[in-house]
Amino acid sequence: MKELISDIHNCNVVDLEKIHNRAGNITIYQNGTPSPFDVKRVYYLYDVPGGSERGGHAHKELYQLIIAAGGSFNVILDDSRNKKVVELNRPNYGLLVVPGIWREIVNFSSGAICLVLASAKYDENDYIRDYSLYQQFKSNQYADRS
Ligand code: TYD
Repeated sequence: MKELISDIHNCNVVDLEKIHNRAGNITIYQNGTPSPFDVKRVYYLYDVPGGSERGGHAHKELYQLIIAAGGSFNVILDDSRNKKVVELNRPNYGLLVVPGIWREIVNFSSGAICLVLASAKYDENDYIRDYSLYQQFKSNQYADRS
């Protein structure tokens, strides 16, 4: 399969199914639409101290759906050419982050829970944690495409 040369325009907020009644809401995620990957791992960030920043890396192959299961935070997406900031503040929205995107997660509200659905099990080899290596990785991808 041809490698996906991703950019931030491939990262969108999707609506998740929500069932509402007087006693509260349920949001459901099942493999299939609206996300293009099957979930192999779930993890969540919580008890994040005020002012902390998470992320600060890219993945080579991993797809993720990031959900503010509680509270709110901002996700900064960067493809080495463009950046955008997405605010997540409702549990029935998910931000799809495709492979090859640098992300930082900032401005956590008190008690925020960042729920992440991921397409693969944890693999440190899939991470790019150094921004200059990430820029090199992207410029190689863009050069191969042209
Ligand atoms: P990392 O993905 O760098 O966290 P964040 O992007 O939220 O700042 O992971 C932090 C640490 O946790 C790192 O040592 C790897 C470890 N970790 C696992 O062992 N398994 C996992 O599934 C995840 C997401 C992280």
